[in-house]
Amino acid sequence: MKYLNNLLLKCFLHKLPPELAHNITLKLIKTGLFLNNSIDSYKNLNIKLGNIDFKHPIGLAAGFDKDGEVFHQIDKLGLSHTEIGTVTPKFQTGNKKPRVFRLNKDKAIINSLGFPSKGEKYLTNRLERYHSNIPLGINIGCNKDTINQISDYSILTRNLGKYADWITINISSPNTPGLRSLQTSDILASLLSNVNEERKKIENKRGHALQVWLKISPDLNDSELKNIIDTSLKHNIDALCISNTTISRSYELKSRNKNENGGLSGKPLTLQSTKMLAKAYLHAQNNIKFIGIGGVTNADDAYLKMLAGASILQLYTGLVFNGPYLINKIIQELNKKSNSSHITNIIGSKAYEIANGRYINE
Ligand SMILES: Cc1cc2nc3c(=O)[nH]c(=O)nc-3n(C[C@H](O)[C@H](O)[C@H](O)COP(=O)(O)O)c2cc1C
Repeated sequence: MKYLNNLLLKCFLHKLPPELAHNITLKLIKTGLFLNNSIDSYKNLNIKLGNIDFKHPIGLAAGFDKDGEVFHQIDKLGLSHTEIGTVTPKFQTGNKKPRVFRLNKDKAIINSLGFPSKGEKYLTNRLERYHSNIPLGINIGCNKDTINQISDYSILTRNLGKYADWITINISSPNTPGLRSLQTSDILASLLSNVNEERKKIENKRGHALQVWLKISPDLNDSELKNIIDTSLKHNIDALCISNTTISRSYELKSRNKNENGGLSGKPLTLQSTKMLAKAYLHAQNNIKFIGIGGVTNADDAYLKMLAGASILQLYTGLVFNGPYLINKIIQELNKKSNSSHITNIIGSKAYEIANGRYINE
């Protein structure tokens, strides 16, 4: 019955323009009446990343709950964690609409949202009023018209860090001009050390760690990727989130909207982001954790990302096309695949093969 409701709801929502459908979904979740998706609990899927405990590896990627509208209810969908944002310091509207396109035949989305955000004050207000029942990350970005990108990231860490288990520095959205170049410029090191100063102050005050994660683009070349990892290691970044959406269109797309501009997510991103994750895992030699994101649409994709080196996973587009029962399916299958040994045993175990394009998913 629940599955049928899920299907009917999806059919209804997919008749609407994507942004409207998304806003209705948020409203439904906000009511708290929407779906109580109970997830089987498996001890062998519990993951610990530093000071944070995750019930299982599957969480919500940034962009779904940009303004923190539903973080206090989203655990009902069965997710183990959520990342809100991207939030910017000041309110901004983002790019002109339409700016989100479904590519149904490809199980993909192209978006050129450009960080629409109600701003830090609005989010602070929500964080003061509500509490998350699962680990909470806050994904931060700079305003489009900022005169100082570094200070935008520092301010957001200073003001929002105390509410978060981790802060994710997003410098990989393709829809804010100049943002991605932060990944490869000398500015990255000072951005990270400025954020670290704010992180330290928060940690001293609250007496426990504030993790800092860095979310990167899947369009980096190998040497850019290695440089980012090395800089991240120098600055004690806890995890790299691989990846954001891609501007490449290497995969042959079949849908009507295939020529729209923006970042592509979903199935066409699975292999590109997973291969990059595997390369990053090999380079980092266990000195940093990885969050696997990009085209997790079924249990095989999820398992492959863990074999490539991800400790936990996040998804967005897969939920749009499959609904929340995707989470149950992935959890059950991961439990079976891990064969009652702990799932952490498989992390990175096929990174070499995946990085070299030699691994065929079983
Ligand atoms: C509509 C939409 C909006 C997004 N907004 C953000 C965002 O604000 N910040 C961010 O870091 N990533 C954002 N993302 C990227 C996702 O978090 C994720 O990295 C990417 O979509 C790949 O995962 P997926 O294939 O499971 O969707 C967005 C993705 C989509 C589809």
